[in-house]
Amino acid sequence: MALPRVLGLLATLLLFHTSQAQDCWKNTTCSGPSDTAFPGTWESNIYSPSSRSVSPKSILSLQTGEVISSFPGNATLSGNGSQLVFDFGIEVGGLVHLNYSSTGPGKLGLAFTEGKNWIGEWSDSSNGKFAGPDGALYASFNRSGTGTYTMPDLSLRGGFRYLTIFLVTNSSASVEIKDIQLEIGFEPTWSNLRAYQGYFHSSDELLNKIWYSGAYTLQTNNVPPNTGRQVPFLTTGWANNGTLGPGDTIIVDGAKRDRAVWPGDMGVAVPSTFVSVGDLTAVKNALQVMYDNQNPTTGAFPEAGPPLLQLGSDTYHMWTMIGSYNYVLYTNDTAWLSQNWAKYLLAMDFIYDKVGESGLLNVTGLRDWARWQTGFNGSEPNMILYRTLITGADLSIWAGQPSLNATWNTRAASLKTAINEYCFDTSYGAFKDNATATTLHPQDANSMAILFDVVDTSQKAESISSNLLKNWTPIGAVTPELPGNISPFISSFEIQAHFSIGQTARALDLIRRCWGWYLNNPNGTQSTVIEGYLQNGTFGYRSSRGYDYDSSYVSHSHGWSSGPTSGLTTYVLGLSVVGLVGKEWKLAPQFGDLSFAEGGFTTGLGKFQASWQLEGGGYNLSYNVPEGTTGQLILPCLANGKWPSIEVDGKPVPRTMIPQLVGDGVVLSVDGGEHAIEVR
Ligand SMILES: *[C@@H]1O[C@H](CO)[C@@H](O)[C@H](O)[C@H]1NC(C)=O
Ligand SMILES: *[C@@H]1O[C@H](CO)[C@@H](O)[C@H](O)[C@H]1NC(C)=O
Ligand SMILES: *[C@@H]1O[C@H](CO)[C@@H](O)[C@H](O)[C@H]1NC(C)=O
Ligand SMILES: *[C@@H]1O[C@H](CO)[C@@H](O)[C@H](O)[C@H]1NC(C)=O
Ligand SMILES: *[C@@H]1O[C@H](CO)[C@@H](O)[C@H](O)[C@H]1NC(C)=O
Ligand SMILES: *[C@@H]1O[C@H](CO)[C@@H](O)[C@H](O)[C@H]1NC(C)=O
Ligand SMILES: *[C@@H]1O[C@H](CO)[C@@H](O)[C@H](O)[C@H]1NC(C)=O
Ligand SMILES: *[C@@H]1O[C@H](CO)[C@@H](O)[C@H](O)[C@H]1NC(C)=O
Ligand SMILES: *[C@@H]1O[C@H](CO)[C@@H](O)[C@H](O)[C@H]1NC(C)=O
Ligand SMILES: *[C@@H]1O[C@H](CO)[C@@H](O)[C@H](O)[C@H]1NC(C)=O
Ligand SMILES: *[C@@H]1O[C@H](CO)[C@@H](O)[C@H](O)[C@H]1NC(C)=O
Ligand SMILES: *[C@@H]1O[C@H](CO)[C@@H](O)[C@H](O)[C@H]1NC(C)=O
Repeated sequence: MALPRVLGLLATLLLFHTSQAQDCWKNTTCSGPSDTAFPGTWESNIYSPSSRSVSPKSILSLQTGEVISSFPGNATLSGNGSQLVFDFGIEVGGLVHLNYSSTGPGKLGLAFTEGKNWIGEWSDSSNGKFAGPDGALYASFNRSGTGTYTMPDLSLRGGFRYLTIFLVTNSSASVEIKDIQLEIGFEPTWSNLRAYQGYFHSSDELLNKIWYSGAYTLQTNNVPPNTGRQVPFLTTGWANNGTLGPGDTIIVDGAKRDRAVWPGDMGVAVPSTFVSVGDLTAVKNALQVMYDNQNPTTGAFPEAGPPLLQLGSDTYHMWTMIGSYNYVLYTNDTAWLSQNWAKYLLAMDFIYDKVGESGLLNVTGLRDWARWQTGFNGSEPNMILYRTLITGADLSIWAGQPSLNATWNTRAASLKTAINEYCFDTSYGAFKDNATATTLHPQDANSMAILFDVVDTSQKAESISSNLLKNWTPIGAVTPELPGNISPFISSFEIQAHFSIGQTARALDLIRRCWGWYLNNPNGTQSTVIEGYLQNGTFGYRSSRGYDYDSSYVSHSHGWSSGPTSGLTTYVLGLSVVGLVGKEWKLAPQFGDLSFAEGGFTTGLGKFQASWQLEGGGYNLSYNVPEGTTGQLILPCLANGKWPSIEVDGKPVPRTMIPQLVGDGVVLSVDGGEHAIEVR
């Protein structure tokens, strides 16, 4: 019977199609990739669920915090005040759908928390000091029987791991929770949340998990643009119905909060997005909303996107400019650049006009990540301006206005001279917090000085790298500019700084201390990266304004802390793009204490992939990148002081063919394609 078979097949196809379509968020068009670019065993480290609809993994007792059942399991609430905690096992976010049956009238309360410390009848805080408590949502029922409840869209909870459900009744009613489905709101345009466009795998399982926790965090920060935090905040509870910007997906600072675009956060989040998840559409929409809200008279960008729309930060202004460079570097979206170029020029004038006679930037837009109303000749803003000018020079070429390349590079060079002259503390061997007399040697400016290459000698870089170790504790680096706090945001710059000068062991050590501490903390999400924590090993945040926020206000899924994701790919695997969209690339592995690493990422030109393994007193290195590209291999020489033997695709490279040594590395210029190198 041919016909029914065909119909059956058609029906299957239609069903399949329907279920695929439903896997994106509500009405969102599925524009994301449907498959991972690099299938392999490492996919088991991806935290993202395979379906947009997920259920809890287990049921905990609120009193003991212990697992009492897997889920589904006995989930009966009997009498007023009884409660159960549903643990999703990882960070999730979205809308909860409940099915239940009750024996009488009452209401169910739903409370959410990221950290386990705050399981209970009150949600963790997403308003901080700025509004009332989050409290709980309620599902009420007036009779016995079965019922369902779906959270209103407005009450979408962007980030949580634990859901406490409690019964409020003045009868002896009991309620059986029959089903809990969470409709995931993040990464709205992707039908397959695991379709990563990059990967990383190495001999160190903790580092692998840290890499994937950064990647998953970034996914939880890519949200539907109509689910931003509404401003002004509600006085009790929360409303996530604010409009964040254009498009179908946009990257915000955190899953739970603030749920607004923050360009400073993107300084870490975007390079990590590029090497892992690969959702650069969310980045483009986030940058665009900054251009859309630029002050047309002054050229200033907002500090944060709408509806929050905070103004008056010179540093975050510059992060939008650096973000524009990162986005165009990764995508070659020159159409986007042309569309915004006039505004970029205005933004450059706005900030460069603040450079004074000394040659230093005088910051007057005083908001910044750790400092409350300090600026002037601050070292960190000057480091960021240097990076802005250097990246601006490249952008000018891509924008078709190459005459600015020389202008901006020259300005960068004189800024570098001024920073080294006025901000460096020679007696201590690191940069001061600003050009004025101060004993504070901050983590941010010093890390950026190395990473952005503002240091004018390698001795200075080495001395800063050593001095940064003085801030370290067993659980991370305490940031002197925000005393008592450990900031995985600024530590993201610090690890890259150590890596960039070949201090591999220091970088890996700090990654394991800080991100390892959080990932293994049983009170955390065990799947994402945290915004910050306190020196004494508790969750919390001490603000620059001199007060402690409610400790539960901290975001446990904050992309600004995802630095190890880009750091491990760029420096340990060693693969990075240096020219537009990867037309030129670099492969410069750093082994540290690992025995192998591999990984890759994707651009419009195709897949870029590399791997290395230590072997026979040397190592094997291979790469597979698009044909037509060119690369620079920087091959560490393991045999100390001895010229190594190098084979490319089985053929020895004669010594005369090797043009130069950089540090202790041999540099080879190579073409794209698939090749294998042996170094002994
Ligand atoms: C989805 O689209 C339908 C039809 O256009 C509209 O009525 C509905 O409000 C939309 N839902 C959401 C969540 O945007
Ligand atoms: C289910 O849990 C309730 C509340 O903890 C308990 O009273 C009841 O005995 C349990 N039922 C079963 C079948 O385990
Ligand atoms: C019911 O439980 C709630 C929450 O635990 C509590 O606030 C309330 O006082 C209780 N009400 C009665 C009538 O016991
Ligand atoms: C929960 O309720 C919805 C809506 O009535 C229904 O479609 C679904 O099948 C129910 N799930 C369970 C497990 O009962
Ligand atoms: C987890 O939180 C509980 C409750 O706040 C606390 O007693 C415990 O020490 C914490 N554990 C860790 C490892 O921080
Ligand atoms: C239950 O009754 C209360 C009071 O009459 C009413 O406000 C509420 O909407 C009712 N809830 C449901 C689910 O019918
Ligand atoms: C969001 O919801 C709040 C509370 O209901 C409401 O006051 C506000 O107007 C809504 N905002 C938008 C953009 O819909
Ligand atoms: C970048 O895009 C432009 C305009 O589409 C194109 O001409 C150029 O070849 C692209 N560059 C690279 C490196 O792909
Ligand atoms: C920086 O600008 C402020 C405000 O315009 C001004 O008061 C201050 O003197 C300037 N400082 C320097 C070092 O130029
Ligand atoms: C841009 O300027 C730098 C520094 O002056 C120079 O090395 C480089 O060749 C210039 N690039 C172009 C394309 O003009
Ligand atoms: C310089 O830095 C110190 C330490 O952060 C700060 O107290 C002081 O106000 C700063 N001075 C200026 C002029 O910014
Ligand atoms: C950790 O430090 C914070 C801020 O100083 C303080 O409030 C808290 O009590 C401390 N916790 C522990 C366990 O020492």
